[in-house]
Amino acid sequence: MSDRRAKPFRKIAGEARIPGDKSISHRSVMLGSLATGTTRVRGFLPGDDPLATIGCFEAMGVKIERPARTELVIHGVGLGGLKAPTKNLDVGNSGTTIRLLSGIMAAQPFDSVLDGDASIRRRPMGRVMEPLAQMGAQIEGIGGKGNAPLRVRGLPKGKKLKGVTYKSPVASAQVKSALLLAGLYAEGETVVLEPAVSRDHTERMFAWMGVETRKVEGGVSLRGGQQPKGRDIEVPSDISSAAFLIVAALLAKEGELLLKDVGVNPTRDGIVEVLCKMGGKIEVLNPRERSGEPVADLKIQASRLKAGKIGGAVVPRLIDEIPVLAVAAAFAEGETVISDAQELRVKESDRIATMGEELGKLGIQIEPLPDGMKIRGNPERSVSGGRVDSHGDHRVAMSLAVCGAKANGEIEVGDTACVETSFPGFFELLSEVSA
Ligand code: S3P
Repeated sequence: MSDRRAKPFRKIAGEARIPGDKSISHRSVMLGSLATGTTRVRGFLPGDDPLATIGCFEAMGVKIERPARTELVIHGVGLGGLKAPTKNLDVGNSGTTIRLLSGIMAAQPFDSVLDGDASIRRRPMGRVMEPLAQMGAQIEGIGGKGNAPLRVRGLPKGKKLKGVTYKSPVASAQVKSALLLAGLYAEGETVVLEPAVSRDHTERMFAWMGVETRKVEGGVSLRGGQQPKGRDIEVPSDISSAAFLIVAALLAKEGELLLKDVGVNPTRDGIVEVLCKMGGKIEVLNPRERSGEPVADLKIQASRLKAGKIGGAVVPRLIDEIPVLAVAAAFAEGETVISDAQELRVKESDRIATMGEELGKLGIQIEPLPDGMKIRGNPERSVSGGRVDSHGDHRVAMSLAVCGAKANGEIEVGDTACVETSFPGFFELLSEVSA
């Protein structure tokens, strides 16, 4: 339960290196393990969430070396090479680990139990259990209907999952990826249709490792039985982590910040698009590709922001950035409305409720909506500082610290251990560039 003090700052300047992308780091471990041959990963995120994914695959007999904090050498065992774990697979706080892994475990010939922390046990798992059941999986929520711990029954000898066409009611890369991973093992074609496009890192890493997927109207399709082949992966910096520094630099009174090698995958870059529309000065420089993922350098200058309207197809492209976007909106001119974001209610915390409660303690009133929030902004507003709480949610903790750009006193953020899940060194980096 470590608390951190975020000092007020007026200027952000210099160059900062943001840790590796969390989504891509998870997938590098999963696909590297299921591949044949060796996969070297550089730029891996050494956060608690991807480390939990490593722990799960090690528990199934995969050898993963870590020559440096951000480097892995994964000795792939092939699709059929995982061994039955002798204990429960512990996903910690990681929704991506439990949901994607349930797709893989559903196809194995042995039983397994997936479990995590108190937050994971509250989060909805029915969204993967139900379509996996349609494919022939047997998964039971020991923690209640649709709740972890999840008991996954091994498939009887000679039996395989079968490909299905699944129309997902939510745009979720975790659901899509769970089904595509199960689909690797399945007979026939697995098709996932979504109401809006979700992040496509799984499809891109599949292509990088020799597994073909096909875009279809409203979704993606995969032919079963394709074996991924090990291949080196360079993980770009996480745009979701960069977002905290981007908003801090925009809100600061002066300064210019350069963030290098940031992932700018078009299914993830909604935050840059929206902040630019709100008047943020963000330049996307030197665009290039790394291991099949678009990457660029971002130059951010202190800016005066105006309100934005955020809803519809852009929402899945910035879903994790909405807490910090709410902070940006609080200091923008006019009223910002965020809608179509009901998914915020089932993240690491109910982010509509927790952001409303905690920003309220700093004197920023937010009107919660069932699927979003309304924020009346004021560029002249300054906050007094004070004590706030993360609710165990990394993105809430970091968003609150960003309010330091407009604070008169220190913001003391309670319970910040969760920041380790996605952005180790966040508080140190923020104070370095704002010193
Ligand atoms: C993730 C997908 C998103 C995102 C999460 C990571 C992933 O969740 O919020 O932080 O790596 O696939 P959903 O797919 O459930 O929307």
